[in-house]
Amino acid sequence: MFIYHTIAEIREFVRQARDKGSSIGFVPTMGYLHEGHLELMRRAKEQCGCVIVSIFVNPTQFGPGEDLERYPRDLERDARLAEGTGVDAIFNPGVEEIYPPGYCTYVDVERITERLCGFSRPGHFRGVATVVTKLFNIVKPDQAFFGQKDAQQVLVIQRMAADLNLEVGVVTVPTVREQDGLAMSSRNVYLDAAQRQAALVLSRSLKMAADEVRAGERSAAEIRQLVIEMIKAEPLADIDYVEIYSHPELEPAELIEAPALLAMAVKIGQTRLIDNIILRKGDTS
Ligand code: PAF
Repeated sequence: MFIYHTIAEIREFVRQARDKGSSIGFVPTMGYLHEGHLELMRRAKEQCGCVIVSIFVNPTQFGPGEDLERYPRDLERDARLAEGTGVDAIFNPGVEEIYPPGYCTYVDVERITERLCGFSRPGHFRGVATVVTKLFNIVKPDQAFFGQKDAQQVLVIQRMAADLNLEVGVVTVPTVREQDGLAMSSRNVYLDAAQRQAALVLSRSLKMAADEVRAGERSAAEIRQLVIEMIKAEPLADIDYVEIYSHPELEPAELIEAPALLAMAVKIGQTRLIDNIILRKGDTS
């Protein structure tokens, strides 16, 4: 497995892979890899001849006071894990390689970025859309792989790829969870033992919501209220948002007749965690 730090190097690597007839699979990450990322890499490897992973903690998607500086980083560990899944190359640029002095071009996806994380983290999706566009232009992948845990991010990237006629397939991979239900996230390392336990309220409340739908509850407002009550009963949890929107349009949903996204962001101590589930009327799983 190769590790490249410059755009020129990774472009040359992609050119050689293409000359050999390989399709290119791409997994963009901010590093500190976990099983969720590794699952994306395995899926990419199943579907593409050559897999490239980017590791770049993108400053433009962090707001003031967020965890940009303390975001966990460990390239050596990441490289070992990625190599174990059969990844062919890692692209690990420095900030100035991606945003050289004088940089002033950004990608703004409207409407679907106005709610959920887009509302509570202003500018976040502008940073995500900008860096992903740049990474797509650098790597020119046939397919790019994203986790459903970041449900709104996937929708934003799919919208952007369609609107800008990008020649890339955006593949969504189901959320990978710890055995006790906690969605895998690089930010889970911030949690101490008590917080780790408290964090289970996210997945527990999602499961309760799915059970309610299965039992016949159709009112989005009712389900949302039950979820909020369950989370509020956990003393270490502080709700940023709990919302239900139609999926994939992200329009207000009153009834769970068509698929609806129940998404939440909850602070456990200083750590903001997100999770979601798609509620479907006929679901029996
Ligand atoms: O999901 C992430 O880790 C990031 O938002 C992404 C897609 C790598 C862009 O920086």
